[in-house]
Amino acid sequence: MSGKLNIETGVSEEGAPATGVSGKVAGVEIVAAQPAHCDALRDVHVKTWAVTFRDRVPDEFYRERLAMHRVRDWAEVVRRQTAVGGGVVAATDNGHIAGFCQYGPTEDEDDDPGEVGHIHRLYVDPLHQRKGIGRTLLSAATTRLRQRGMSAATLWVLETDERAQAFYRRLGWKPDGERKSGSTPDLRYRSLLV
Ligand SMILES: CC(C)(COP(=O)(O)OP(=O)(O)OC[C@H]1O[C@@H](n2cnc3c(N)ncnc32)[C@H](O)[C@@H]1OP(=O)(O)O)[C@@H](O)C(=O)NCCC(=O)NCCS
Repeated sequence: MSGKLNIETGVSEEGAPATGVSGKVAGVEIVAAQPAHCDALRDVHVKTWAVTFRDRVPDEFYRERLAMHRVRDWAEVVRRQTAVGGGVVAATDNGHIAGFCQYGPTEDEDDDPGEVGHIHRLYVDPLHQRKGIGRTLLSAATTRLRQRGMSAATLWVLETDERAQAFYRRLGWKPDGERKSGSTPDLRYRSLLV
C-alpha cells in the first residue's frame, strides 16, 4: 500500500523526477521551532488555514475552527509535541517563518506509536508555496521520525482537498484505505520511512 520515501529528498523512489528536485531550497533554513517563533507559527497557520479552507468546509465549521486557531498557544503545542517525542520544524526565509511542520508519534488507535509517526500539521504561507518548501519541511519531519525509530508515517487530509493530495502523492505517499467520516471527511495517507 505504501510508497517508499527517499528521506534525503522527500521524493518517492518510485517515479522520482530525473533532475532539478532537491530537499533543500535556496535561502530557506529549516530549524526546530523555538518559543520566539510561536507568534509567527500562529500567524502562518491562521493565514494559510483561512485561505485554504474558506471554500472547502461548511461555514460553521470554518468559523469555529478559525476562532480556535487564532487563540492557539503555540509555545504549548511545541512543548507538548516535543515531550511526546516529536516537534515542530519551521522554514525560515530571511528570518521570516514561511512554513512549518508539526510531527510526532501517531495518535491513531490502529497503529503503534512506537513504530508509526504522524504529520499533524503542514502549512506553507501562500506567498511561499510552490517553491519546494512544503517538500523540504515534510522531508525534515520524516527524517526526524525515522531517526526516532519510526518505520512509517501517516497523515490525515481532507477528502475533497485534491491539491494537498496531489502534493503528498507526488512525494510517494498513498491513501491507506482509512477514512474518517463526518461533515469534513478525511483520508489517511501513509508512507514507509525505511
Ligand atoms: C500542501 C502544501 C504544504 C505544499 O507546500 P508547497 O511548498 O507549496 O509544495 P512544494 O513546492 O514543496 O511542492 C512539491 C510538489 O508537490 C506538488 N504540488 C504542490 N502543490 C500542489 C498543488 N497545489 N497542486 C498540485 N500539485 C502540487 C507538485 O508536484 C510540486 O512540485 P512542482 O512544484 O515541482 O511541480 C502547501 O500548498 C500548503 O501549505 N497548503 C495549505 C495547507 C495544506 O493543505 N496543508 C496540508 C494539509 S493535510
